[in-house]
Amino acid sequence: MVEIRRPEAMERISSREMAEKFIEEQMTLIKEQVGDKKVLLALSGGVDSSVVAALLIKAIGKQLICVHVNHGLLRKGEPEQVIEVFKNQMDANLIYRDCTDRFLDKLAGITDPEEKRMIIGNEFIEVFAEEARKLDGVDFLAQGTIWPDILESEDGIKAHHNAGGLPEDLDFELVEPVRILFKDEVRMVGEALGLPSGMVYRQPFPGPGLGVRCLGAITRDRLEAVRESDAILREEFAKHGLAEKVWQYFTIVPDFKSTGIKDGKRTYDWPVIVRAVNTKDAMSATVENIPFELMQHLVDRITHEVPGVSRVLYDFTPKPTGTIEWE
Ligand code: XMP
Repeated sequence: MVEIRRPEAMERISSREMAEKFIEEQMTLIKEQVGDKKVLLALSGGVDSSVVAALLIKAIGKQLICVHVNHGLLRKGEPEQVIEVFKNQMDANLIYRDCTDRFLDKLAGITDPEEKRMIIGNEFIEVFAEEARKLDGVDFLAQGTIWPDILESEDGIKAHHNAGGLPEDLDFELVEPVRILFKDEVRMVGEALGLPSGMVYRQPFPGPGLGVRCLGAITRDRLEAVRESDAILREEFAKHGLAEKVWQYFTIVPDFKSTGIKDGKRTYDWPVIVRAVNTKDAMSATVENIPFELMQHLVDRITHEVPGVSRVLYDFTPKPTGTIEWE
């Protein structure tokens, strides 16, 4: 492990030129560290792992093996975007595993949010470990650790131990090329590497994904209602210039129904809850003031386009007292 620390006096990367210089330096360091060996990376499609992937592809090409695990709880279009950007455009060595059924079967009937998180996390590691064991001659594991992660767990992070909680037989040396960067710097580097801005400026998305937004026991039909309503919200926020302005915005589908009326007939369907918040550090948050007309338009689209949904609610609760997610 090459121990890299952010020098006290390191200037913040704030221009394309600085980002390009950083990329050149890191390419040299990566090549020095890994030589002709193979490197494995769990590529979620989030900002950090995507930037690490793009950097490593530029430095060592096919020596990098990316594994994209689709746990079935990703947003609409996400797995397709990962395949399009990394496999089709960057010609990466990408292993794609669609494990939707496996995850949803494990989660069937589980209502406790923490238990849901644990199942998703453990299963994820299990799938990744299976892929790692199939490969020969992989000595390195790349991770999208960034500087705030290190500051937050200063005494916890000791090179070998944060290998994503992998089983002990998988003993990799870590490659962490963005570990000295803050998030805004990672984004600059991502742009300089040619990643699409939708990927680089993506809002935060929790590891358990839509699983904690499909409240209670996850069912496929309600999960689809979360995914479809989320896609509509994202589309409308982008159209109205809110996508870059609002820190995090998403939809939630609870596990209860209400009476409604559609095409003159009585319905008994789910509501969709809209959440849109702003924060600096996610410790506290305020609610975005979505214009009433936009809210009406969202109600119209969601209730007409998403099967099984008859109402839209808007969560006005700041954090505290509510958390940002509902579970
Ligand atoms: P809460 O709901 O605690 O969320 O106010 C604060 C931020 O953390 C995200 N979050 C998670 N991220 N795994 C993650 O990677 C999780 O289990 C998880 N739970 C919440 C949430 O989306 C928000 O940005």
